[in-house]
Amino acid sequence: MADTLPAPRLPRFVQLYHEDRAAVREELLRGLQAPRPSIAPKYLYDALGSRLFDAITELPEYYPTRTEAGIFAAHGAAMADHLPAGATLVDLGAGNCEKAARLFEALRPRRYVAVDISVDYLRHALGCLQRQHPALDIVGVGMDFSQSLALPPEAGAAQEGPRLLFYPGSSIGNFSPEAALAFLRQARAACAGGALLIGVDLAKPAEIVEPAYDDALGVTAAFNLNLLLHVNALAGSDFRLADWRHRAFFDAAASRIEMHLETRQALTLRWPGGERRFAAGERIHTENSYKWVLADFDALLRQAGFAATRHWTDARGWFAVFAAQAGD
Ligand code: TRP
Repeated sequence: MADTLPAPRLPRFVQLYHEDRAAVREELLRGLQAPRPSIAPKYLYDALGSRLFDAITELPEYYPTRTEAGIFAAHGAAMADHLPAGATLVDLGAGNCEKAARLFEALRPRRYVAVDISVDYLRHALGCLQRQHPALDIVGVGMDFSQSLALPPEAGAAQEGPRLLFYPGSSIGNFSPEAALAFLRQARAACAGGALLIGVDLAKPAEIVEPAYDDALGVTAAFNLNLLLHVNALAGSDFRLADWRHRAFFDAAASRIEMHLETRQALTLRWPGGERRFAAGERIHTENSYKWVLADFDALLRQAGFAATRHWTDARGWFAVFAAQAGD
């Protein structure tokens, strides 16, 4: 007898990030022509970049992912006591979705909404996740939330219950303190009376932070340099990897690690319709990662309108996870 199996459930997918090729090209070229050249960090995450970042999280020097995972494993149940049950779990920058999936049991979300700019990578990750959790309502959202956190209706309407915004990995550290405050205010509005669960890397000596962003195996260098290949593909520039090297250094006064790409010798970069000269040792700024002091981050959450904040840290005090209610 040929029983027909039910069709496997497929995650729904909403694509809000429609690449406007001309606008992307213009943004990139503006950054390259600035007196202090820069490339926005979101361009680090093409398909290869997302995989290289996954590899970074396994490096012995890159402590944040592992330390945060230890905090979730030790305190996930306690966190769940401070968070709304049966919420729509909105994962900002979901990547491979592994962090959120490990919390499903403790948080028991009614729906999982995974948001990421790396659309193809997210689609693949969600297909796998739906097979592991056939009963869970899963929605993928391809969008760039670095400017605006306006979530689509598929991310759960306010009357369908609270949202739990999940923002792990200390991605908040990639915003300047002013931009972090603006982002947290938007996050509070997007919670719809729910809560925020957020990971924050804490201030610590340069001897620990710098190797985490410049590992001996060179994976972080490959991750940062891959940005140049992505820019070549998007803007038609002629970056050659051999001309550039990865640099990372801790600015203690600003409590941030800065990532740059630095020329090995003077060169001229060309693209259709233009060029720019780079001196030897000149840099393109790619990302900052701020390291917060516990009390300052707590104050930032309150300034953004969150209340009833709680936090958990690892034994070394390297990383913190905060749970905060949106309040009224
Ligand atoms: N959000 C990650 C972090 O700040 C991104 C990151 C890790 C990164 N290593 C990097 C960005 C190297 C640029 C270069 O930890």
